[in-house]
Order: sequence, then C-alpha cells, then structure tokens
Amino acid sequence: MRDSTVLITGGAKGLGRAFTEALGQAGARVFITGRDTAALQETVEKLAADGILVEAVRADVTDGDAMKDVVARIMDVSGRLDVLVNNAVDPGPAGPTADIDFDAWWRTQQVNVAGPLLSAQAALAVMIPAGRGRIINLVSPAGIKRWPYATAYSVSKAALLKLSENLAAELRSTGVTVLSYNPGIVDAGLTRAGIEFAGTTDDPWLARLGRWAIEARDSGAFTPLDTAVKALVRLARGDADVLAGLVINAEDDLDTRISERKASSR
Ligand SMILES: NC(=O)c1ccc[n+]([C@@H]2O[C@H](COP(=O)([O-])OP(=O)(O)OC[C@H]3O[C@@H](n4cnc5c(N)ncnc54)[C@H](OP(=O)(O)O)[C@@H]3O)[C@@H](O)[C@H]2O)c1
Repeated sequence: MRDSTVLITGGAKGLGRAFTEALGQAGARVFITGRDTAALQETVEKLAADGILVEAVRADVTDGDAMKDVVARIMDVSGRLDVLVNNAVDPGPAGPTADIDFDAWWRTQQVNVAGPLLSAQAALAVMIPAGRGRIINLVSPAGIKRWPYATAYSVSKAALLKLSENLAAELRSTGVTVLSYNPGIVDAGLTRAGIEFAGTTDDPWLARLGRWAIEARDSGAFTPLDTAVKALVRLARGDADVLAGLVINAEDDLDTRISERKASSR
C-alpha cells in the first residue's frame, strides 16, 4: 500500500481503528475522521508512535461541507486519495419498529446512508478526475438478512448495499470501483459494546441484542478480528476490484470468487 492514501471515516474506534492500524502497517498514509476529538488524538499519538503515517480530521459524516474539507486537507497534504473506507456508523435504536422513536431511527439513516453518500461525493470529486479510486462501504449481516428489533441499523445497511451496487455500475468506465464489505460479526466496536451493555442496561431491547451477541459469540459464529482486518486490506489494495458492486464477506474464499468472476466475464 506504499504511495496510497486512504480515508477511513470513524477510524479511531472499534473496527475502524483496527483497519487504520493494519492499512498503516501495510504502508498506506491514513486519514481518519470522527466526532470525538480525544479519541482521534489518542489514536494518532499511539499509531504515529508505532511509525504509522496517520492524521485525524474532526468531521461528522452527515455534514457534506465538512467531508469536502477533509478531502481538501488530504489533497493538500498527500496530493492523492486512493481509497475511501465508509466505516462510521450509528448502531441505531433497538425495539419494536411499530413504536420506535422516529428521530433516532432517521438519524441512523443519516449517519449510515447519507454519511457514506456525502463522503463518496467528496471523494469522487478527486477520484473521477484522477481516473482511479476505490470506495469500500462497510455493510453487515444485518443488512443482508432480517434483523428484527434493530430495523434502523438493518435498513440502513441494506440501503448502503444498494448504494454500492448502483454507484459501481455508474462508475464502471471511470477507473473508480465500489464494493460492499461485510466483516461478519466481530468481537469489537458496536458488537463488543452490545455485549458489555447486556448485563447493565435497563433497556430490555438492548439487553436482548446483547444476549443474542453473547450466544452468537459462544456458539462460534463470530468472525475473528484478524480475518476481518486482513480481508479489508486486500480490498483496499485492489485485489477484488473485479468484484465491483458486490458484497464481499470477510470469510469468503476471495481468490476463488475472483477467479470465477474473471472466468465468467471472459
Ligand atoms: N462490530 C461488528 O461486529 C460489525 C459487524 C458488521 C459490520 N460492522 C460495521 O463495521 C463498521 C464499524 O463498526 P464498529 O463496530 O467498529 O462501530 P463503533 O465501534 O461503534 O465505531 C463507530 C465509529 O463511527 C464513528 N461515528 C459515529 N457517528 C459518526 C458521525 N456522525 N460522523 C463521523 N463519525 C461517526 C465513531 O466515532 P465518533 O464517536 O468519534 O464520532 C466511531 O469511530 C460499521 O459500519 C459497522 O456497521 C461492524
């Protein structure tokens, strides 16, 4: 990844932080965003001390102008933007959809759908003229299967998956690829938080999700963090560009999928 510049939204926490570290170790210059200045600063200090080229810019993904400023900063410092990882997420409210709080539900769509769109628009303004670039949208089993009592999150991830698919088709002749990436359920970030809440929250629906996550973990359904991170690095490197528009799962046999796709398009 030497000479590559990557932008990871929400790159200071959870899976995003693990992606930042791995892409930095692979030689990329990494820019991270988020709203929590202290977490951004702490991540930069820690990773820079380990020799990683990382810079943080505070920005809310729902603010299109802020995302344009992030890309302008990247172009000033690095002169290029090769990869955008749309990772930032709002886990959304939990509970029966019939009476879920609408404002909280809508906020999840703003962060998880409008956020990646605004970030992609900011990135595409430099990627399309450069004739190259890669956008990786973090999706989830919750956007692929049904996920009752967490519809804000589930619906947002399903929408993001369609955004990837349509955008990839529109960008086919530009040199820019778009993929959806499903890391699987990982003992990090929002899943780890859900497990930790399970025993302490007064909210019965959050507790239910937390108990479900504990059962999934204990039955071996989780994807190891290392597997999720290694697959993301391969996608960022461009190994799976031939699969543009599709959903890549961390535990896929990626080489087989790539060779089957190449064979079918011959
Ligand atoms: N963990 C899993 O098991 C799992 C499974 C499947 C898919 N995923 C996907 O992987 C990605 C990362 O998830 P995670 O578990 O690591 O989540 P997480 O620990 O909750 O981290 C979320 C990140 O998003 C940032 N963020 C939230 N709202 C934002 C906003 N409005 N503007 C900018 N940044 C914002 C947060 O930073 P600030 O607080 O600083 O804003 C934080 O860095 C998500 O897209 C998620 O859907 C995770």
